[in-house]
Formats: sequence, C-alpha cells, structure tokens
Amino acid sequence: MRIGVLTSGGDCPGLNAVIRSVVHRAVVDHNDEVIGFHDGWKGLLECDYRKLDLDAVSGILARGGTILGSSRVQPAHLRGGVEQAKGHVADLGLDAIIPIGGEGTLKAARLLSDAGLPIVGVPKTIDNDISSTDVTFGFDTAVTVATEALDRLKTTAESHQRVLIVEVMGRHTGWIALHSGMAAGAHAIVVPERPFDVEELAAVVGKRFEAGKKFAIVVVSEGAKPREGTMEFSSGATDVYGHERFSGVANQLSVELEERLGKEARPVILGHVQRGGTPTAYDRVLATRFGWHAVEAVHNGRFGMMTALRGTDITLVPLADAVQHLKTVPADRYTEAECVL
Ligand code: F6P
Repeated sequence: MRIGVLTSGGDCPGLNAVIRSVVHRAVVDHNDEVIGFHDGWKGLLECDYRKLDLDAVSGILARGGTILGSSRVQPAHLRGGVEQAKGHVADLGLDAIIPIGGEGTLKAARLLSDAGLPIVGVPKTIDNDISSTDVTFGFDTAVTVATEALDRLKTTAESHQRVLIVEVMGRHTGWIALHSGMAAGAHAIVVPERPFDVEELAAVVGKRFEAGKKFAIVVVSEGAKPREGTMEFSSGATDVYGHERFSGVANQLSVELEERLGKEARPVILGHVQRGGTPTAYDRVLATRFGWHAVEAVHNGRFGMMTALRGTDITLVPLADAVQHLKTVPADRYTEAECVL
C-alpha cells in the first residue's frame, strides 16, 4: 500500500512519535510505502511531500514539534481545494491518508472522507478537547509544563506577597487549567466552561489573605470570560484564519484583582512553552499506539474513522462523531477541584 501522512493545526508534543510509529508499522510489518506531506493539508494541496523510511524517522520519538511541519490551511477553505486534494491522491497513487490533527483538521478529514477519500484520522491537541477519545496526546506534556511553572511561581509569589494570575492554553475548554491547577495546588481555577465573576474571585483570594496566607495563585484558561455584565472585558481579535486569539484575560484580571484586593497582582502568560519540547512518556506511548492502530485501520479498510483511547484500549470511532462537539470540563470535575483549592 502507499500511505500519506500529515500533521496539521497547532503543533503538539507527540506528533513525531505518531509519524515514527506509522512508518514502523507500515514499512516493517506491512511492506508499505509511506510519504509525508509538508505543512499539513497545504502539502497535499501543493503536492509537496517526501518519502518516509526508517532512516527518516530515526531518533525522532522524543523530539517535540513535527518533522513534517504544520499549518492551519484547510482544503475546504480554498476554492477547489477538495477536488485538488482528490486529484493529488489519485495522481500519487495513495491508498490512504492519515491526517494527525485537532478539531479543525479532523473536520477537514471528515469532509474529505465524505468526498470519497480513504482517510483514518489521529486526534491530537494539548487542549484535550476532542470528544470520542478519553485523552489526546500532548495534553499530559502541557499539564506537566504548566504544573512545573506553577510550582516555580509559588516561591516568587510568596517572596513578594503577590497574587499571580497564570494564563494557560485552552481556547474553549479548561482541561489544562483544571489539571495543572489541581496538580500544583492553585488557589483558584478559572475555566471557559464557567464564566467568572471578578467580585467572587476577589472574595476567594481575599479570604486567603485574611486567613494569614501571604500569596495566591490563580490559574486561568486563555478562553475564560467574565459572566455577562460583571466586568468590562475586551475579547481577543481574530488571526488571519479567523481563529480567536487569546484575549489577555490574565492581564485584565490582574488589574481588576489588584484594585479590589489592594495587593500586588501580576499576570503570567505561559503561552507556547506548553506546546514545545519533548513529550512525556505517557504522550509518547499514546502517540505510538495511535500510529500503530491507524495503520491497522488502513489495512482493514476502516476509512472515515479516527483512533481513540477508551479506558486503556485503543478503538476506532467515526470521524463524524468525533467532530460533533468539543469535550468540555464537566461540572462535577470542577466541584472535585474546588474542594482542594
Ligand atoms: O489548540 C491548541 C492551541 O495550543 C490552543 O490551546 C491555543 O489557543 C492555540 O492552539 C494557539 O494557536 P496558535 O499557535 O495558532 O497561536
């Protein structure tokens, strides 16, 4: 068989582990040929690719980013994009495409699959917000990075008796904030799923100071917003692809909390450091398992499907189901966290 693989959307630790696994399973076990498209769907649309053999994937397991490059280009956004993609798949004699990506990439995968292309998707995102899979690789690494940062920030916050408002990634969902906040013992966690009231937040932090504590750490997802009418708030602009940029919620919150508490408050935006660098062991294993199962799905003709983790097993779920809605933080998970804040 001839299989094309690509990585699309925001990068994420573990992408190289999937690519490596796909090549090993396909080339060694099935005698397939694998090509890798450069910069996501853009590579497929421009026929820009390279052959991936065992040498090409040697030594990449622990490397962050993606050796293939990534972009946010989606075939459906370009006039004639879907037809062009179909034409190139036929010209290149591809039997299957394995796109590795998040929400936007998987939606494009579904669209191309509906248009007749043989596709098996692999989910990735540090945000952990793809439904139909219990976990996405990249999430564990992002939480580990954020937790380490929070541990470090506690010591400087304490020295200066400050409130630090730490903004973590998570445009639509609060998984990184919830898990890193719990792991580091933050004093408040603010997520997009629960619009915040700045007065309530100030009261929570204020109570801590009244109890004699010298500092406070507030973790906030970049996509968090205030409850309507509770605070002046400027939402983020959009980028060239129409994606919402982060709003600088930590900057805005630090000003508001400083005013209300009479304590020094500082924003800390962790940003892309959460996406960079080597994946954790957990993410390497999950990514490797996804790659293995994606190749199996190709050989079993299970097109239009996506690999997913359910419990401890890897299964296949229809792409159509996976892109229906995002996996948000359920209220009871927040309640559990609240108890230890
Ligand atoms: O979806 C992953 C993610 O890292 C989000 O958490 C974040 O909002 C976004 O990508 C940032 O995207 P970009 O790298 O395009 O700024």
